[in-house]
Amino acid sequence: MQLAIPIVRAGEPLFRQVYRGIRQGILHGTLRGGERLPSTRDLAEQLGISRTVVVAAYEQLLAEGFATGRVGAGTFVAPQVTAHAGRGAGQRPGSGQAAATLRLSRYGNAAREATSVVDAPRRQEPVPRYDFANGRSDLGTFPFAVWRRMLLRQAREASVRQFEYGSTLGSMALRRAISGHLRRARAVVCEPEDVIIVNGAQQALDLVARVLVERGDAVAIEDPHYNGAREAFRAAGARLVGVPVDREGLDPAQLPEEARVAFVTPSHQFPTGAILPLERRLALLEWARRRNAVILEDDYDGEFRYDGRPLESLQGLDTDGRIVYLGTFSRTVFPSLRIGYLVAPRSLMPTLAAAKWLSDLHSSTLEQETLAEFIGSGLYERHLRRLRRRNTARRAALLEAIGKYLGDRVEVTGDGAGAQVMLWPRGRVSEAAVIRRAAQRGVGIYSAGHCYLEGEKSERRPGFVLGYATLNEREIREGVRVLGELV
Ligand SMILES: Cc1ncc(COP(=O)(O)O)c(C=O)c1O
Repeated sequence: MQLAIPIVRAGEPLFRQVYRGIRQGILHGTLRGGERLPSTRDLAEQLGISRTVVVAAYEQLLAEGFATGRVGAGTFVAPQVTAHAGRGAGQRPGSGQAAATLRLSRYGNAAREATSVVDAPRRQEPVPRYDFANGRSDLGTFPFAVWRRMLLRQAREASVRQFEYGSTLGSMALRRAISGHLRRARAVVCEPEDVIIVNGAQQALDLVARVLVERGDAVAIEDPHYNGAREAFRAAGARLVGVPVDREGLDPAQLPEEARVAFVTPSHQFPTGAILPLERRLALLEWARRRNAVILEDDYDGEFRYDGRPLESLQGLDTDGRIVYLGTFSRTVFPSLRIGYLVAPRSLMPTLAAAKWLSDLHSSTLEQETLAEFIGSGLYERHLRRLRRRNTARRAALLEAIGKYLGDRVEVTGDGAGAQVMLWPRGRVSEAAVIRRAAQRGVGIYSAGHCYLEGEKSERRPGFVLGYATLNEREIREGVRVLGELV
């Protein structure tokens, strides 16, 4: 048995340190009643101390009743002690009644408010047969065999230097690959020097919120919106001001005069799916200019657009450097990769880079290099084309099935881009009842309720976000047919 007991050479006598280490283990339940302690010889070897020291510690434990047995014949944790310790075996310190109330910072208190969102199950367990969960990537289409080969080769051929700390801004090869792709595919105006690699778009949201938001500052946020953005701003102390969203996306006429930061998803409003038209984009930029505000553009699924030309990014229209553009590989590669990027105006680069350094020094090197190779080899583009084809077919099946099984009982928005639509029942429905009954029939659908600011004056309309990136056409039809019987 290995016992991890921290030993400090200077200070408290060694035997006291060993005694305290074991006693603590017993009281915290990591050492259970009846368990055999290591022999004194073993423990002395493990800890690199003399055996006499361990014998003295064991004798003390025996004398105080924490242990039973006889030194030499085997020493055991006294069975009754665990029970008396007041915690069930294995309970963590602080989980009992005597738990200390630890003081949190203002950030800590704000973060605690987000507990219900953090790691909230994104889908039901067990996974429904027809799961319309949103925000998922199509793992069935991703070429994992190629990815594994590339990752292995990167690991094999990496020089020892590559296992040292890397650049805070990220792998230069990846920043080059991303800026090239964004220039071509999203008309983002950028050079590799403008890109910072982050651990998913969520880290970008967190860094931007920390760097730009003063406690109590007004931050404009589309309402409804992506809750991960809302919580990052809230934790940074923002006073969130919701900007209503209609069929065309956020209404710039309702942007608050007092805000200096705005969070927007113009390519495919999350979750309603509206695509912000050019006039509104220009009005939004004009507001930002007047207010000297920063716009945070979250282009989380700008790769998928079905009608007409891909709409270019808002960043591409900006002439005075007030947009932080961010994106993610969660939907196009896979989410556990945790790689995203932000493209920052030059004036903010050093600050955001420092914030990234403070947060985690840099993102993991090997995955970045693999992704750079994946993009550079043309495989990413090829994968995107395949995803687009698949999503186009899925979307057609979804819209057709909705027309057939739900008809004019619902309104659909957001089908022009991305891999999710919003379904708005026209009559009075209870979201919870539909979700529950759908689950009983093997269909997972999800309310958009968590995407709204609480206590907003505007009446929230019941609605469901339907993601379709992981279902095939037959599953989509079948799932919607069931919904047709419930809504
Ligand atoms: C609109 C939006 N932005 C950002 C994110 C976060 O993405 P990432 O996985 O890169 O942190 C998500 C994830 O679902 C999202 O839906």
